[in-house]
Amino acid sequence: MDISNAIAIVSGGASGLGNAVARRVIAEGGRVAILDVNEEQGTNAAAELGNRAIFIQTDVSDEQQVNDAVATAADTFGGVTFCVNCAGILGAGRVLGREGPMPGEYFAKVIQVNLIGTFLLSKAAANQMQNNEPNEEGERGVIVNTASVAAFEGQVGQAAYSASKAGVAGMGLPLAREFSRIGVRVNTVAPGIFLTPMMESMPEHIQDSLASQVPFPSRLGRPEEFADLVVYLYGNVMLNAETIRQDGAIRMQPK
Ligand SMILES: NC(=O)c1ccc[n+]([C@@H]2O[C@H](COP(=O)([O-])OP(=O)(O)OC[C@H]3O[C@@H](n4cnc5c(N)ncnc54)[C@H](O)[C@@H]3O)[C@@H](O)[C@H]2O)c1
Repeated sequence: MDISNAIAIVSGGASGLGNAVARRVIAEGGRVAILDVNEEQGTNAAAELGNRAIFIQTDVSDEQQVNDAVATAADTFGGVTFCVNCAGILGAGRVLGREGPMPGEYFAKVIQVNLIGTFLLSKAAANQMQNNEPNEEGERGVIVNTASVAAFEGQVGQAAYSASKAGVAGMGLPLAREFSRIGVRVNTVAPGIFLTPMMESMPEHIQDSLASQVPFPSRLGRPEEFADLVVYLYGNVMLNAETIRQDGAIRMQPK
């Protein structure tokens, strides 16, 4: 797929990794619909990107809102060829915390946003993509989902987050298998630690400690490096149903 013609939907595109993807798609000549729950940041992000970008306020955990947003993006740009799921929440907390056991509702909320939100948008995007004319390889679209290294080595306090991200990684193969019929590839990126507002919200000594745990390069990842990989996944037709760790070889410790 050629990124310069891409019509992308980027959830979580108002901030961090999703925003870097939106910027990169625009820089490559494509068009972008930013889907995000944060109205102010989303509006500003789209305005900064110019007239090939729109913002559609969307809560990815709400099926109707997701379906409506994909329809609006497709109506505005004449289709959808690229779906990047970056919306997510940290949802940290011990199962047996100081304030008592974690309420099931809290766990469910993290799953609802990170996992079910990714499912809902992937489904709505694939449903739209199946209407596209295939390219010479038979491709109609590409989906990239964002897991985390916490899908594989979740730390204490990450039971909900890790479960949600392991679900995202696990869903990749069955989605790719099913969507092979319509020429839509599905890949997953599992980032290590990237310097985004999500990470900047943590105290600096924790950020420094995390950076020092990355074997090489011993620093936090840059959102542009994530965007670079996501755009590569769009272009390489042989990459399908893959989960790629992008983590400088970090393996998270128990705490
Ligand atoms: N930054 C990292 O180190 C890191 C590492 C591994 C995985 N990730 C994952 O990457 C993704 C992006 O993270 P980030 O670091 O850019 O975070 P971020 O907080 O900077 O951006 C997340 C965006 O998602 C939006 N969002 C949250 N809930 C939403 C909802 N229900 N509907 C629509 N939008 C919603 C937020 O408004 C925000 O704009 C997340 O899924 C996160 O779990 C990040």
